[in-house]
Amino acid sequence: MQNLVKQRKKTVESRSTLKNKALDFISAGVGCNCLVALWEAGVLTHLLENGSIDEKNIEIYTNPICIKSALLTLVKCDIIEKKFNRFTITEFGKALSEYMGLITIFFDGYSKLVANQAQIAKKQSTDLAKLVKWPVVAQSSIRISEKTVDPIIIQEFANLKCSGTICDLGCGHGVMLSKICQKTGNPGLGFESHPKTVSQANKHLANDVTIEVADITRLQGIWEDVVFLIQAFVFHDFTPQKRCLNIINSYLENFPNLRYFFYVDIVTPSESNNDIFPGFDYVHGLLGIPTRTHEETLNMFDQSSYSVIKEIRISDLPNTFLWILSPQRRN
Ligand SMILES: C[S@@+](CC[C@H](N)C(=O)[O-])C[C@H]1O[C@@H](n2cnc3c(N)ncnc32)[C@H](O)[C@@H]1O
Repeated sequence: MQNLVKQRKKTVESRSTLKNKALDFISAGVGCNCLVALWEAGVLTHLLENGSIDEKNIEIYTNPICIKSALLTLVKCDIIEKKFNRFTITEFGKALSEYMGLITIFFDGYSKLVANQAQIAKKQSTDLAKLVKWPVVAQSSIRISEKTVDPIIIQEFANLKCSGTICDLGCGHGVMLSKICQKTGNPGLGFESHPKTVSQANKHLANDVTIEVADITRLQGIWEDVVFLIQAFVFHDFTPQKRCLNIINSYLENFPNLRYFFYVDIVTPSESNNDIFPGFDYVHGLLGIPTRTHEETLNMFDQSSYSVIKEIRISDLPNTFLWILSPQRRN
């Protein structure tokens, strides 16, 4: 009898643990949206710089009711602590803010696409890319790479000890390109399809870096000065494999003196890399773009006119790699 009572108590407890876990899971989803609002309003930056904010100081923001509700939601997520009338960012909140790019890319950049998920799940549609806020995606990408990809690429450039123009294909705002050119003393050229991104980029570029509007899947021209190519977080949008092969091989015509191709991308989980980059597979699923595994990516390089000379796993970003490719010798 006593055992039965114990068993029943345990079942009730585990049910309530599961229910709490469920509520925490839902709060986390809502919390990510709140973080975007606080980021955009400048409140998150204030919290990171000052540690806390007094309730009465929230009144200086344009929409204090919205800000307060976001802060209260984040208390439930252990991101904010509320004591008396003061909201303080927790250590967990600070650690999470390091991944702000991952949050803004999904919850802002792809937000219009995600808002259509119910219809998309029931019916395949085309032309969904117009729902993506590309400038936000590009801006988030800068935040994602800042402390993860950029230092690794800069180190690898230093190791190569050769010079020439660096061309970044799908360069977004050109921040990574500018940084690398400044560090290595090489000139830079960026190609980006989104005109608004290019006009914003041209306001803050490093000396000797230019960015032009161009579609990198059909580049028209020959750039003999280009020795290095970079393509970061772009190629996963292109399918099928045959088309991708044609595109990367066509670069050898556009850049006849190319020596190194820095190719950065995310892969979908597989047996050998079973981690997942949050949001990556889902947004591409919504867009109807099948994502490549690590093995499929290597297989694509194998069939291309390039050899992989180095593969580096990007720490802190799940399933993300830098591959340094080199054109195979042509007769
Ligand atoms: C995820 S962002 C990456 C930006 C940048 N490479 C980085 O790592 O910060 C992808 C960028 O590729 C651009 N893009 C996509 N398709 C393109 C195309 N066909 N030609 C040129 N740019 C393209 C998008 O507009 C967007 O700015």
